[in-house]
Amino acid sequence: MPDVAVVTAAVARGLDDDLPLLEGALRGRGVAHRVVDWDDPSVRWEEMALVVVRSAWDYVRRPERFRRWAEAVAAVAPLRNPPDALRWSGDKRYLAELEAGGVPVVPTAFAAPGEAMDWPAAGEVVVKPAVSAGTLDTARYGPRAREQARAHVARLHRAGRVAMAQPYLAAVEGARAETGLVFIGGRFSHAVRKGPMLVPGKRVVADLFVEEEIAPADPTAAELDVAARALRAAPGGGAGLLYARVDLIPDDDGAPRVLEVELVEPSLFLGRHPAAADRLAETIGALVRPAAPR
Ligand SMILES: Nc1ncnc2c1ncn2[C@@H]1O[C@H](COP(=O)(O)OP(=O)(O)O)[C@@H](O)[C@H]1O
Ligand SMILES: [Mg+2]
Repeated sequence: MPDVAVVTAAVARGLDDDLPLLEGALRGRGVAHRVVDWDDPSVRWEEMALVVVRSAWDYVRRPERFRRWAEAVAAVAPLRNPPDALRWSGDKRYLAELEAGGVPVVPTAFAAPGEAMDWPAAGEVVVKPAVSAGTLDTARYGPRAREQARAHVARLHRAGRVAMAQPYLAAVEGARAETGLVFIGGRFSHAVRKGPMLVPGKRVVADLFVEEEIAPADPTAAELDVAARALRAAPGGGAGLLYARVDLIPDDDGAPRVLEVELVEPSLFLGRHPAAADRLAETIGALVRPAAPR
């Protein structure tokens, strides 16, 4: 059987905690695999039984190149997640689509270079790029710091990036905080609580992401419902997703709102649930093994 390519990036080597767990689980199930960098020109993608994107964490620096890579790979090998899901999830403008479809999202205004930002009426705001990951280039500004917030948007625009502004949801610092719901093979697997990121003293790791504080979480029925609805709004109704993570923050009324639908290279926190790595390996195995003859 040809190999499964598990895709990372040179800059992410040694930093992806999920990777050794997934490799161990694949070995346990006898699924031949190789860990490769997405931009390694020596990889022969057409020889792969399946290409699984995991920690291509520098794609945000080169989104166009990554999009072309995904399309080229998908033309010669099965790619998970599928390229339309990667494209959709790689740009947070999907939040506007979700909202139009009735899924509760963190209220978000977008402004492309040359466009004016429609700022939240009052209070603290968060500014970030529409193509972003790892909390990089993301900051929060108090009501008296609108000038700095505007300057942040101007900086993103000068770099040719679409900027977004959201009210700062203070509940992210409370007991329910941010909840990430992990789905494997289209089914809910486990959830984690993430501590607030836009607080003083956070460390940036390898220029890739801001360090995170993660704990296990039990999602509420409302959280499960919102996450499932967000995934159904993804391309193809979310069919064909090998993995997904939906991040939610409660609003002032405690109702969960979508912060992010991560279908590109989410940390899956496989170490936070005893069965998660094997679930992912089992789903991958089922994708590459021909169905048993009857
Ligand atoms: N509107 C917001 N209110 C409160 N915290 C926010 C908000 N937006 C972002 N954050 C904080 O910043 C982090 C990163 O933002 P996120 O939208 O998830 O982008 P990324 O793709 O970089 O993970 C979140 O985990 C959260 O702690
Ligand atoms: Mg996030």
